[in-house]
Amino acid sequence: MNILIVGGGGREHAIARALKKSPKVEKLYCAPGNGGISKIAECFPVKATDIDGIVALSEKLRPDCVFVAPDDPLVMGLVDKLNEKGFMTFGPRANAAILEGSKAFSKALMKKYNIPTAAYETFTDAEKAIAYIKEKNQYPTVIKCDGLALGKGVIIAQNLAEAENAVKSMMIDLKFGKSGSEIVIEEFMDGVEVTVLAFTDGKTVKPMVSSMDHKRAYDNDEGLNTGGMGTVAPNPLYTKEIAEECMKTVFLPTVKAMQSEGRPFKGCLYFGLMLTKEGAKVVEYNCRFGDPETQVVLPLLETDLVDIIEAIWNENLENLDIRWSDKSCACVVIASGGYPEKYETGKEIFGLDENGQTGGAYVYHAGTKLENGRFFTAGGRVLGVTAAGDSLKSALDEAYSAAEKISFEKAHYRKDIGRKALNGNKI
Ligand code: AMP
Ligand code: GLY
Repeated sequence: MNILIVGGGGREHAIARALKKSPKVEKLYCAPGNGGISKIAECFPVKATDIDGIVALSEKLRPDCVFVAPDDPLVMGLVDKLNEKGFMTFGPRANAAILEGSKAFSKALMKKYNIPTAAYETFTDAEKAIAYIKEKNQYPTVIKCDGLALGKGVIIAQNLAEAENAVKSMMIDLKFGKSGSEIVIEEFMDGVEVTVLAFTDGKTVKPMVSSMDHKRAYDNDEGLNTGGMGTVAPNPLYTKEIAEECMKTVFLPTVKAMQSEGRPFKGCLYFGLMLTKEGAKVVEYNCRFGDPETQVVLPLLETDLVDIIEAIWNENLENLDIRWSDKSCACVVIASGGYPEKYETGKEIFGLDENGQTGGAYVYHAGTKLENGRFFTAGGRVLGVTAAGDSLKSALDEAYSAAEKISFEKAHYRKDIGRKALNGNKI
């Protein structure tokens, strides 16, 4: 098979690497890709959000399958467009990707189908939103943009002044663009976060190995929310018992709910969960593989990813046995100084070999470009240094020792990835 991967971050690098392992894959293409991906896939400079451009590229390359990895093109209906042209795809159609595209939609779905999540209200009027916050008078309170905001459109306000600022920045100053014209205000959930990615063909759901993301920019969960600064898998706080409970209360009910709504979800469904004292609750759904969760989950997959893609496409996932390694995996993201706010790019990256790798770990490229055989930074999250090991501790040691060998001006990474998981911090 020849496969075109749409996207250009660390997640896409991890998907490319997993597909590369398949004996069924002949040629890999990626658009737009990045410096590291270009070492294992032929890259084309078409943006993932350039829907017409990706369709045109697909018509030129005629791949056997197009794997759409990022949220925006999924929400914008790229899969629908490609299917209309007769292409096999991986990823949900727009009417199912809305699960991530609109928090107002996903919250209403959870309410209707009794899927546990934080209590909430939605608002399109800033004054009404502030009046509601004052009336509730409960802090922290969580304020979210309705639409996509690169994982950054969520503010946890500790008091009224912070809440008012958050509402104002989203709804009036439109700091997160149009995605802030409708907001969701919800109850703060206290607990431990777990990510569970799951394969689903619209009927059957097969959860992958669990993981733990580290969303805040700095150690000890300080600083702003980012797209994710590091991950470990499996998440040791997500026990077999909790997994069984989640299957009954969250995973199956969600897939069934989408089916009942006439929006069958095919692809990878991302469950962001909070393990609270009252049980697991949904923090968010995403309509795609997580980034950087994919970087630690896919290396543990033992089944051929192409077999899974085919089973989902043919809607017979039920009959496929998906196997996982019992190792652990850790990923440390090296970011540009200043991320998730303003940062500089174009810095030369030192410590990588000609394939963009460094000994002992696998380096997934997130925001890099390759120029005359040298790698330069080209984004906020630059590299995801990943290692597998027999224990989480050995995976983390390996990933950190590789990260230490890599440098660029103003590089920053968290030093405490996996610490909570290792300490087994309970709720
Ligand atoms: P989201 O984009 O909805 O995943 O939110 C980003 C991050 O904000 C989550 O991963 C949580 O760490 C935090 N968060 C979101 N909603 C809540 C909530 N209701 N209670 C506590 N933390 C939350
Ligand atoms: N790591 C969080 C996300 O992919 O949304």
